[in-house]
Amino acid sequence: MADIIKNVVIIGASGNLGASIFKALVASNRFTISVLTRPESTHIYAPDIKILQSDYSELSLVDAFHGQDAVVSALGAAGLADEIKVIDACVKAGVKRFIPSEYGSNSKNAKATALIPFFGLKAQINAHLKAQEVNGLTWTGIAAGPMFDWGVNTGLIGFNIHTKEALIFDGGNRRFSTSNLSQLGNAVVAVLSKPTTTVNQYLYIDSFTASQNEILVALESATGKKWAVTKSTTEAAVTEGRALFAKGDFSGLLLLLKANFLGEGYGSDFTKDAKLSNEILGLPSQDLASTVSALAKGEAI
Ligand SMILES: NC(=O)c1ccc[n+]([C@@H]2O[C@H](COP(=O)([O-])OP(=O)(O)OC[C@H]3O[C@@H](n4cnc5c(N)ncnc54)[C@H](OP(=O)(O)O)[C@@H]3O)[C@@H](O)[C@H]2O)c1
Repeated sequence: MADIIKNVVIIGASGNLGASIFKALVASNRFTISVLTRPESTHIYAPDIKILQSDYSELSLVDAFHGQDAVVSALGAAGLADEIKVIDACVKAGVKRFIPSEYGSNSKNAKATALIPFFGLKAQINAHLKAQEVNGLTWTGIAAGPMFDWGVNTGLIGFNIHTKEALIFDGGNRRFSTSNLSQLGNAVVAVLSKPTTTVNQYLYIDSFTASQNEILVALESATGKKWAVTKSTTEAAVTEGRALFAKGDFSGLLLLLKANFLGEGYGSDFTKDAKLSNEILGLPSQDLASTVSALAKGEAI
C-alpha cells in the first residue's frame, strides 16, 4: 500500500469529539478535507471545506466516497448503527483506510463491552470492519480513554471544574488512561500520516495515566480551592446506573461509563492493560499538571 493518504472525509465533524478531530486535520495542512453531513445538519463550515451531503443511502455514500483515500468516522451514539453502511460504501468506493468511531474505552475488553449498552454495537462494527480487510479496506482503531478536558467540563470522569466537585470511586487510587481532545486530534492526524505503520491495528493513546486522587490534588492546586468530595464505589455506580438506564434515564449511562473508566478489570490503564502507541505516532507529551493548569486558566490545551 502506498504510504500516502491525501483525500480525507470526516463524518460527525460538528460533534463533541469530531469537532476537535476536524480541527486537527485542517490544522495539519496535510490533507484535502471534506465533511460528510446529513441534509438536516445546521452546522456552518468555512467556505473552503467541501461538504458532502448524505442521507446514508448506499448510493449517496458511495458517491461521496469516490476518490477518497480515508474516511474518519466520529458518529455519535444516535448515528452509530449507520457505520456498517458507511464501511460497506467505503469498500464499494475503493477507500483505503477507515477510522471507526471508537475514541474511548478499551473496546477489546469483554467486561467493558458487557457493561455499556452501545459498546456491543461498537464490537459488531469492529468485527464487520476487520472482515473487510480481504476486500481491500484497511482500518485503524483508536482507544483514548475518557476525554479529560471535555470530561472535567461535563463531569464525565467524576470532576466538575465549574462546581469544584469530585466523585471519587473505590478510594481513588486506581489509575486510568485519559486524553485531551487535542491529543485525540493529534492521533488521528498521525494515523493518516503513517498509514503503513498503523495498518489494521487497534491503537491505545493517552495524554497521561493517573488516579482520581492524583487528579484531585492537581485540580485543587491549579484552582487554589479545596474541592467538595463525595465518595462512592464502582459497584454502586453499576447498580444505580443500570436501574436508571433501564428507566430511560441518560444519567444512568454516565454512571456506567464512570464505572467502566474507573473500575477494576475494564482494561482502562493502557500503560499496564495494553500498550501505548504515543511514541510510534509521535504524539506530543501532555502531562496532568500542565493540563489542569491550562484548564484552570481557561486556556486551550
Ligand atoms: N472518550 C470519551 O470521553 C468520549 C466522549 C464522548 C464520545 N465518545 C465517542 O466518540 C464518538 C463520537 O461521539 P460524539 O459524542 O462526539 O458524537 P455526537 O456529538 O453525539 O454526534 C456526532 C455527529 O454524528 C452525526 N450524526 C449522524 N447521524 C446522526 C443522527 N441520527 N443523530 C445525531 N447525529 C448524527 C452528526 O453530524 P452531522 O450533523 O454533521 O450529520 C453529529 O454531529 C462516539 O464513538 C462516542 O462513543 C467518547
